Amino acid sequence: MNKLLWNLKTRYYKLFRSFYPFQRILNKENSNLVTLINQVELKGKSVLDLGVGTGNVLEYLNGAKSIIGLDFTYSMLLEARESYPNLPFIQADALSIPVKTKSMDMITAVGLIEYIKDIIPFFEETCRILKNGGCLVLTFSPANFWTRMRLLLGHPIYVRTSDQLKGVIQQYNFQIIDYQQSMMQHQVLLQKSVE
Ligand SMILES: C[S@@+](CC[C@H](N)C(=O)[O-])C[C@H]1O[C@@H](n2cnc3c(N)ncnc32)[C@H](O)[C@@H]1O
Repeated sequence: MNKLLWNLKTRYYKLFRSFYPFQRILNKENSNLVTLINQVELKGKSVLDLGVGTGNVLEYLNGAKSIIGLDFTYSMLLEARESYPNLPFIQADALSIPVKTKSMDMITAVGLIEYIKDIIPFFEETCRILKNGGCLVLTFSPANFWTRMRLLLGHPIYVRTSDQLKGVIQQYNFQIIDYQQSMMQHQVLLQKSVE
């Protein structure tokens, strides 16, 4: 049901995000993302974008040696491939990622974890795949009016406070490098411990 709904949403996803006020909100989210991503030296690095959707994050990963997009929705991957025909894409669940242990320098997960009920398997996987010292760019949804509006789009949204997230971040030996906020989203740059 979850995947079916995403497949249905794909057609309207980009269109919806091009209308006011969503476009303005999205511009702010993207500018925050750029602020976080620009703190990481991407030259020669490998990046995995989880929940790639139609490929919004990919345009900010210039300079990386390799970029892989992962999503469990086939129609989203088709759209992403249309915009980025030379990149590899994987259709898989972000809770069971078919990528080698300690193989990635950076993972991005933008607009993803609010759709994941239990984030422990998500952290297990990202922690497994990241090299020591690797970075995770993660966004999450705060409990507010805008998040409640998103419920109208059909998917359950799992809101999290920054304190809840901080507990898990510490548990998995990540350090918070930077933190940004916009109306619908909080964005955080994490670094996995080097040991
Ligand atoms: C709101 S979109 C975000 C897309 C993109 N990251 C962006 O910033 O525009 C969420 C995406 O996550 C995908 N998704 C949701 N749960 C997932 C899961 N457990 N594993 C893989 N992809 C998932 C959906 O198919 C959808 O494409």
